[in-house]
Amino acid sequence: MRPIAIMAAMQEEMVGLTSALSDARTINNGSRQFTTGTVHGQPVVLVLSRIGKVAAATTATALVERFDVSAIVFTGVAGGLASGVNVGDMVVASEFIQHDMDASPLFAPLEIPLYGRAVFPTDAGLTESLRAAAQGLLNNLSQWVDRDTLHALNVQSPKVHSGLVLSGDRFVSTSAESQALQKRLPLALAVEMEGAAVAQVCHDYDVPFAAVRTISDRADDAATTDFSRFIHEVASRYTSALMGAWMASRRG
Ligand code: ADE
Repeated sequence: MRPIAIMAAMQEEMVGLTSALSDARTINNGSRQFTTGTVHGQPVVLVLSRIGKVAAATTATALVERFDVSAIVFTGVAGGLASGVNVGDMVVASEFIQHDMDASPLFAPLEIPLYGRAVFPTDAGLTESLRAAAQGLLNNLSQWVDRDTLHALNVQSPKVHSGLVLSGDRFVSTSAESQALQKRLPLALAVEMEGAAVAQVCHDYDVPFAAVRTISDRADDAATTDFSRFIHEVASRYTSALMGAWMASRRG
Protein backbone atom coordinates (compact mmCIF):
# COMPACT_ATOMS: atom_id res chain seq x y z
CA MET A 1 0.00 0.00 0.00
CA ARG A 2 1.45 3.42 -0.99
CA PRO A 3 1.69 5.84 1.93
CA ILE A 4 -0.25 9.07 2.36
CA ALA A 5 1.90 12.13 3.08
CA ILE A 6 0.97 14.59 5.79
CA MET A 7 2.89 17.88 5.60
CA ALA A 8 3.01 20.92 7.86
CA ALA A 9 5.26 23.97 7.75
CA MET A 10 6.23 24.20 11.41
CA GLN A 11 7.13 21.86 14.25
CA GLU A 12 4.31 23.21 16.44
CA GLU A 13 1.79 22.10 13.81
CA MET A 14 3.12 18.54 13.69
CA VAL A 15 4.28 17.42 17.17
CA GLY A 16 1.06 15.71 18.27
CA LEU A 17 0.88 13.77 15.05
CA THR A 18 4.42 12.41 15.25
CA SER A 19 3.75 11.02 18.71
CA ALA A 20 0.63 9.17 17.41
CA LEU A 21 2.69 7.22 14.85
CA SER A 22 3.34 3.45 15.19
CA ASP A 23 6.51 1.79 13.84
CA ALA A 24 8.11 5.22 13.36
CA ARG A 25 11.29 5.41 11.30
CA THR A 26 13.22 8.55 10.40
CA ILE A 27 14.85 9.13 7.01
CA ASN A 28 16.93 12.24 6.21
CA ASN A 29 16.75 13.43 2.61
CA GLY A 30 17.71 16.81 1.14
CA SER A 31 17.72 18.73 4.45
CA ARG A 32 14.32 17.35 5.42
CA GLN A 33 13.46 14.71 8.00
CA PHE A 34 10.78 12.29 6.81
CA THR A 35 9.10 10.04 9.38
CA THR A 36 7.43 6.91 8.06
CA GLY A 37 5.04 4.76 10.08
CA THR A 38 1.40 3.85 10.42
CA VAL A 39 -1.66 5.63 11.82
CA HIS A 40 -4.78 3.50 12.35
CA GLY A 41 -3.01 0.75 10.38
CA GLN A 42 -2.41 2.93 7.30
CA PRO A 43 1.07 3.84 6.04
CA VAL A 44 1.96 7.52 6.26
CA VAL A 45 4.96 9.80 5.77
CA LEU A 46 5.11 12.89 7.98
CA VAL A 47 7.35 15.82 7.09
CA LEU A 48 7.90 19.45 7.95
CA SER A 49 8.18 21.48 4.75
CA ARG A 50 9.63 24.53 6.49
CA ILE A 51 8.18 27.87 5.49
CA GLY A 52 7.47 29.34 2.04
CA LYS A 53 6.71 28.12 -1.46
CA VAL A 54 10.16 26.87 -2.48
CA ALA A 55 10.64 24.87 0.73
CA ALA A 56 7.16 23.37 0.33
CA ALA A 57 7.69 22.54 -3.36
CA THR A 58 11.02 20.74 -2.81
CA THR A 59 9.51 18.77 0.08
CA ALA A 60 6.48 17.77 -2.00
CA THR A 61 8.74 16.70 -4.87
CA ALA A 62 10.77 14.46 -2.54
CA LEU A 63 7.53 12.92 -1.22
CA VAL A 64 6.51 11.97 -4.74
CA GLU A 65 9.92 10.96 -6.13
CA ARG A 66 11.44 9.22 -3.14
CA PHE A 67 8.45 8.00 -1.10
CA ASP A 68 5.97 7.27 -3.90
CA VAL A 69 3.10 8.76 -1.88
CA SER A 70 -0.45 8.16 -3.11
CA ALA A 71 -1.68 11.60 -1.95
CA ILE A 72 -0.47 14.67 -0.06
CA VAL A 73 -2.39 16.46 2.67
CA PHE A 74 -1.15 19.79 4.02
CA THR A 75 -2.19 20.92 7.48
CA GLY A 76 -1.33 23.88 9.66
CA VAL A 77 -2.45 27.45 10.22
CA ALA A 78 -3.43 30.40 8.02
CA GLY A 79 -4.49 34.01 8.31
CA GLY A 80 -8.22 34.68 7.80
CA LEU A 81 -9.12 37.11 4.99
CA ALA A 82 -12.85 37.02 4.19
CA SER A 83 -15.19 38.47 6.79
CA GLY A 84 -16.52 35.73 9.08
CA VAL A 85 -13.31 33.65 8.82
CA ASN A 86 -12.16 34.00 12.42
CA VAL A 87 -9.41 32.73 14.71
CA GLY A 88 -10.19 29.09 15.60
CA ASP A 89 -12.20 28.42 12.40
CA MET A 90 -10.95 25.86 9.90
CA VAL A 91 -10.59 26.38 6.17
CA VAL A 92 -10.58 23.43 3.79
CA ALA A 93 -9.10 24.54 0.46
CA SER A 94 -11.08 23.81 -2.70
CA GLU A 95 -8.48 25.66 -4.80
CA PHE A 96 -5.28 27.71 -4.52
CA ILE A 97 -3.75 30.81 -6.12
CA GLN A 98 -0.19 32.16 -5.70
CA HIS A 99 -1.10 35.76 -4.86
CA ASP A 100 2.47 37.02 -5.41
CA MET A 101 2.89 35.59 -8.95
CA ASP A 102 3.07 38.36 -11.56
CA ALA A 103 4.85 37.81 -14.88
CA SER A 104 2.82 40.54 -16.61
CA PRO A 105 2.82 41.82 -19.25
CA LEU A 106 4.17 38.52 -20.65
CA PHE A 107 1.40 36.57 -18.91
CA ALA A 108 -1.80 37.59 -17.14
CA PRO A 109 -1.23 38.71 -13.54
CA LEU A 110 -1.43 35.67 -11.17
CA GLU A 111 -1.12 33.17 -14.05
CA ILE A 112 1.67 30.59 -13.55
CA PRO A 113 3.76 30.98 -16.70
CA LEU A 114 3.45 28.09 -19.17
CA TYR A 115 0.68 26.39 -17.17
CA GLY A 116 -2.04 28.57 -18.68
CA ARG A 117 -3.72 28.91 -15.30
CA ALA A 118 -3.62 30.72 -11.98
CA VAL A 119 -5.97 28.39 -10.08
CA PHE A 120 -5.04 24.89 -8.92
CA PRO A 121 -7.97 22.88 -7.55
CA THR A 122 -7.60 20.32 -4.77
CA ASP A 123 -8.84 16.72 -5.00
CA ALA A 124 -12.63 16.74 -4.46
CA GLY A 125 -12.89 13.40 -2.60
CA LEU A 126 -9.99 14.05 -0.22
CA THR A 127 -11.23 17.58 0.38
CA GLU A 128 -14.73 16.40 1.30
CA SER A 129 -13.37 13.80 3.74
CA LEU A 130 -11.19 16.49 5.39
CA ARG A 131 -14.17 18.83 5.62
CA ALA A 132 -16.23 16.15 7.36
CA ALA A 133 -13.38 15.40 9.80
CA ALA A 134 -12.93 19.14 10.50
CA GLN A 135 -16.64 19.56 11.22
CA GLY A 136 -16.54 16.55 13.57
CA LEU A 137 -13.58 18.07 15.42
CA LEU A 138 -15.23 21.47 15.86
CA ASN A 139 -18.44 19.82 17.10
CA ASN A 140 -16.39 18.41 20.01
CA LEU A 141 -13.62 20.98 20.28
CA SER A 142 -13.68 21.23 24.08
CA GLN A 143 -12.56 17.58 24.14
CA TRP A 144 -9.25 18.66 22.56
CA VAL A 145 -8.64 22.23 23.69
CA ASP A 146 -9.64 23.43 27.16
CA ARG A 147 -12.33 26.09 27.43
CA ASP A 148 -10.08 28.64 29.16
CA THR A 149 -7.60 28.54 26.27
CA LEU A 150 -10.40 28.96 23.72
CA HIS A 151 -11.82 31.83 25.77
CA ALA A 152 -8.39 33.52 26.01
CA LEU A 153 -8.03 33.33 22.22
CA ASN A 154 -11.59 34.65 21.83
CA VAL A 155 -12.65 31.50 19.92
CA GLN A 156 -16.46 31.33 19.94
CA SER A 157 -18.50 28.79 17.95
CA PRO A 158 -15.78 28.08 15.37
CA LYS A 159 -16.86 27.10 11.85
CA VAL A 160 -15.55 25.11 8.88
CA HIS A 161 -15.27 27.01 5.58
CA SER A 162 -14.43 25.66 2.16
CA GLY A 163 -13.09 27.66 -0.78
CA LEU A 164 -10.17 29.57 -2.27
CA VAL A 165 -6.91 29.86 -0.28
CA LEU A 166 -4.02 32.14 -1.29
CA SER A 167 -0.32 31.38 -0.89
CA GLY A 168 2.65 33.71 -1.18
CA ASP A 169 6.10 34.32 0.24
CA ARG A 170 4.83 36.93 2.69
CA PHE A 171 3.52 36.79 6.24
CA VAL A 172 0.56 39.14 5.83
CA SER A 173 0.57 41.25 8.98
CA THR A 174 -1.04 44.60 8.22
CA SER A 175 -4.70 45.44 7.79
CA ALA A 176 -3.79 47.44 4.67
CA GLU A 177 -2.22 44.41 2.95
CA SER A 178 -5.05 42.13 4.02
CA GLN A 179 -7.64 44.56 2.65
CA ALA A 180 -5.73 44.92 -0.62
CA LEU A 181 -5.74 41.11 -1.03
CA GLN A 182 -9.46 40.94 -0.27
CA LYS A 183 -10.18 43.66 -2.81
CA ARG A 184 -8.11 41.95 -5.50
CA LEU A 185 -9.34 38.41 -4.79
CA PRO A 186 -12.72 38.74 -3.03
CA LEU A 187 -13.38 34.98 -2.98
CA ALA A 188 -10.23 34.25 -0.95
CA LEU A 189 -10.96 32.85 2.50
CA ALA A 190 -7.44 32.69 3.91
CA VAL A 191 -3.76 33.28 3.20
CA GLU A 192 -0.71 31.15 3.97
CA MET A 193 2.73 30.49 2.50
CA GLU A 194 2.90 26.94 1.07
CA GLY A 195 -0.32 25.34 -0.21
CA ALA A 196 -0.35 26.66 -3.79
CA ALA A 197 3.23 25.47 -4.32
CA VAL A 198 2.33 21.93 -3.22
CA ALA A 199 -0.80 22.09 -5.40
CA GLN A 200 1.40 22.93 -8.41
CA VAL A 201 3.81 20.03 -7.73
CA CYS A 202 0.86 17.64 -7.28
CA HIS A 203 -0.58 18.92 -10.57
CA ASP A 204 2.79 18.21 -12.27
CA TYR A 205 2.87 14.62 -10.98
CA ASP A 206 -0.88 13.96 -11.03
CA VAL A 207 -0.94 13.21 -7.30
CA PRO A 208 -4.17 14.01 -5.36
CA PHE A 209 -3.76 16.95 -2.97
CA ALA A 210 -5.87 18.45 -0.18
CA ALA A 211 -5.23 21.04 2.51
CA VAL A 212 -6.84 22.12 5.75
CA ARG A 213 -5.78 25.15 7.78
CA THR A 214 -6.82 26.42 11.18
CA ILE A 215 -7.13 30.22 11.35
CA SER A 216 -4.46 31.52 13.74
CA ASP A 217 -4.88 35.27 13.00
CA ARG A 218 -6.73 37.69 10.75
CA ALA A 219 -3.66 38.70 8.67
CA ASP A 220 -4.09 42.21 10.11
CA ASP A 221 -2.17 44.56 12.39
CA ALA A 222 -2.56 42.07 15.29
CA ALA A 223 -1.50 39.06 13.18
CA THR A 224 1.99 38.58 14.63
CA THR A 225 0.80 38.40 18.26
CA ASP A 226 -2.26 36.29 17.45
CA PHE A 227 -0.23 33.90 15.30
CA SER A 228 2.41 33.33 18.01
CA ARG A 229 -0.15 32.67 20.72
CA PHE A 230 -2.16 30.29 18.56
CA ILE A 231 0.88 28.39 17.33
CA HIS A 232 2.18 27.88 20.86
CA GLU A 233 -1.06 27.24 22.67
CA VAL A 234 -3.34 25.24 20.37
CA ALA A 235 -2.10 24.54 16.82
CA SER A 236 -0.68 21.09 17.53
CA ARG A 237 -3.82 19.96 19.32
CA TYR A 238 -6.06 20.98 16.45
CA THR A 239 -3.76 19.29 13.94
CA SER A 240 -3.25 16.00 15.72
CA ALA A 241 -6.95 15.66 16.61
CA LEU A 242 -8.00 16.48 13.05
CA MET A 243 -5.50 14.22 11.29
CA GLY A 244 -6.19 11.37 13.77
CA ALA A 245 -9.95 11.65 13.11
CA TRP A 246 -9.39 11.88 9.36
CA MET A 247 -7.13 8.80 9.25
CA ALA A 248 -9.67 6.89 11.40
CA SER A 249 -12.45 7.85 8.95
CA ARG A 250 -10.39 6.43 6.06
CA ARG A 251 -10.22 2.99 7.66
CA GLY A 252 -13.75 2.56 6.29
N1 ADE B 1 0.02 31.74 8.24
C1 ADE B 1 -0.68 32.05 9.35
N2 ADE B 1 -1.00 33.34 9.37
C2 ADE B 1 -0.50 33.88 8.24
C3 ADE B 1 -0.49 35.18 7.69
N3 ADE B 1 -1.06 36.20 8.34
N4 ADE B 1 0.14 35.38 6.50
C4 ADE B 1 0.73 34.36 5.85
N5 ADE B 1 0.76 33.11 6.33
C5 ADE B 1 0.13 32.86 7.51
